[in-house]
Amino acid sequence: ANSTVSSGLHVALLRDSKQLPEMFIESDHNHRPSPDSRCLENPNFDIPVVDISYLTTGDANQRAKAVAAAAKACQTWGFFQVQNHGIDQMLTKRCEVEAHRLFQLPLHVKERCHRAPGTSFGYGANTWINQKVMHWAESFHMQLNPTSNILEMATKLFPDESSSHLFSSTVEEYMKSVENLATQVLELLTEGLGLERNCFSQYLQRERMTSMRFNFYPPCPEPSLAIGLRAHTDPHLLTILHQDSVPGLQVQMGDKWVTVKPRLDCFVVNIGDLFQILSNTRYKSVLHRAFVNSESQRLSLACFLNPPLHATVVAPPELITPECPQVYRPFTWLEYLKNAYLYHPTAGNERHERFYLKSM
Ligand code: SIN
Ligand code: FE2
Repeated sequence: ANSTVSSGLHVALLRDSKQLPEMFIESDHNHRPSPDSRCLENPNFDIPVVDISYLTTGDANQRAKAVAAAAKACQTWGFFQVQNHGIDQMLTKRCEVEAHRLFQLPLHVKERCHRAPGTSFGYGANTWINQKVMHWAESFHMQLNPTSNILEMATKLFPDESSSHLFSSTVEEYMKSVENLATQVLELLTEGLGLERNCFSQYLQRERMTSMRFNFYPPCPEPSLAIGLRAHTDPHLLTILHQDSVPGLQVQMGDKWVTVKPRLDCFVVNIGDLFQILSNTRYKSVLHRAFVNSESQRLSLACFLNPPLHATVVAPPELITPECPQVYRPFTWLEYLKNAYLYHPTAGNERHERFYLKSM
């Protein structure tokens, strides 16, 4: 196989094959989601659901409850779902319709926005340069802030102006709403660390980096041999994800993988590496992955909130105590992306090592 070809392209070409092509076979059994781990009913474990209706009611009691629940979830799971978040489900639905419209385009059209390995935006799937097995997925990356590249890409993809405009205006409207939600959740979680709620968000008010990835997983002929998205932690500050009604997302808890129940009325929130670092490891950036199935296609929309590239990332002094000494040295998000993410795309600890204050 030609290693410069993105796996999105392969999946698009091979969507209808009856057998799983070699390049998608995950030989490492530890990375294959077992049938029982894919089961939804897990009586012992479930990702917490946090009611954030205080966003609309302004109720202080509800807010305090949400702060406690969300902080606890991030200390243990690194994940939770938010309910009563105030984003109209119809907006999410409209964005999903646009995402499907995109993935249904002919391959040669999607390839006009080809994302070369190691670069950030466009159509493809495999930016993880040291990974051999291909993901059974197509994906599309876009940026909203500091500058939007959505209309520019839509213009290359859709045949007429009204069609590309519908795509970019819908996706931008959705991303702005989710970015706003992400900022509110950031403040909630900052409060959960015992800090002033705007301690981090104030720096994002003028400048931030917000990007988004659509993940599309076609039905897979042999789902137990393949992987939709290999286990990884997110490098970002905060991720806000919406999944459709088909299960796929799994979160690691101890030696188990727990499937996150699809809830159309919720968003899945997770702590990224940057937040783990800013919280001096009080919050956890946790491994997660996506499995595929043979019956249904699946779509997820992931929105990532980040500081600007040149901002310094360092835990605030309040979180550095004799019991919890400073774990990481100060660095910039750009430095992190260049030196950690690209070379250790999946593993949290190797990725973090060179950012420890003292080598351990
Ligand atoms: C992700 O980790 O970005 C998304 C996984 C999913 O499709 O749910
Ligand atoms: Fe992720």
